[in-house]
Amino acid sequence: MSTTKIPSLNDYSATSLQSFFGILTSEFESDRSQAHNRDAFEALRVKWVGRKQGLMNEIGDLLKTAPPEARRDVGTQFNAFKKLVEAQCDFEAVRDEFHATMAQAGFPVQREVARGIDITLPGAVRTPGIAHPLLQTMEAVVKVFHQLGYSTSLGPQVETDFYNFEALNFPPNHPARDTQDTLQIAGQSGKPSRDRLLMRTHTSPVQIRSMVAGPPPLRIVIPGKVHRNDAADATHSPIFHQVEGLCVDTNITFSDLKGTLDHAMRALFGSAVKTRFFPSFFPFTEPSADVQISCIFCGGSGCRKCKHSGWIELLGCGMVDPAVFASVTEERRKLGFDDNAYDPARISGFAFGMGVERIAMILHGVSDIGQFYSGDMRFLEQFA
Ligand code: PHE
Repeated sequence: MSTTKIPSLNDYSATSLQSFFGILTSEFESDRSQAHNRDAFEALRVKWVGRKQGLMNEIGDLLKTAPPEARRDVGTQFNAFKKLVEAQCDFEAVRDEFHATMAQAGFPVQREVARGIDITLPGAVRTPGIAHPLLQTMEAVVKVFHQLGYSTSLGPQVETDFYNFEALNFPPNHPARDTQDTLQIAGQSGKPSRDRLLMRTHTSPVQIRSMVAGPPPLRIVIPGKVHRNDAADATHSPIFHQVEGLCVDTNITFSDLKGTLDHAMRALFGSAVKTRFFPSFFPFTEPSADVQISCIFCGGSGCRKCKHSGWIELLGCGMVDPAVFASVTEERRKLGFDDNAYDPARISGFAFGMGVERIAMILHGVSDIGQFYSGDMRFLEQFA
């Protein structure tokens, strides 16, 4: 707001007074038209009607010099001007009048606005949390098996050598252990090898724990975190997630395994997806297989994502090796269960294990596994 100079007043004739108040009125109106918020209004009020330095005081002082015969006219005009200025400097009054005019013209003027709350300001945005995409994927896989009558089993991430390896038919110092780069817990060398602690390298030890805990029939899914001493790159992370499955009952055959996984893959990736089984090796399954699904990007005709093969490798599986049932039986005996519930002559089973990150990457077209662990909201928000 610029400073306003009070115009000079040579005489008290009607013309002089009219031009004097005319100039002041237009000065005031120009100031007033620029007052767009509460602070500006306060500045306007201080400038014109402020108790100490307000222009009204100054104008009043000047007019006191009027000769007695002009006082009446001067007084009326001064009072009228003062009334106008005071009314226009009263923020609440101006605002209420504005709202009344708006309301009369048919604009909706909420009571909140009238009370000085600006309802047009953006509100405080609350973003409700969502399940992490890996958790969403893990839950989706688990759900497919729940619908087949499986229940969920969980186990510890810090595991003993026995459950992670030995009971699963990885003998001590066997080269098969090299395929799972293991993070050992420090200070374990004083213990017998089967009791040494490590970070579980797969969810398979929960197979053993579940079988030791109870007789068949058993149908379980085992979601969880696993750890390997792997360098991180676009497709590897030292900590990742698996969903394991185990089914043990009388008359379980490789056909059951094929049918179950074929159904699960179609439930997860769409009914057009085909599966195929390749011979593979795991110490705890015999026979073992790797399962591939037809490429969900090209439908099998070959593209960059499936390296032009038309197939994507997804999981490992196989029929539970009798050596695993033998470890379970031995362990159950130690605990006092002498029922031979896991006699391979009577029962059989299949197991499978899949990587959650890999499935999530395929489902969502994510090319760098690191995105899942970055905590970058721009990435995560896409899964809300
Ligand atoms: N545990 C195996 C792995 O992590 C996967 C697997 C599970 C294979 C169950 C067969 C049966 O590589």
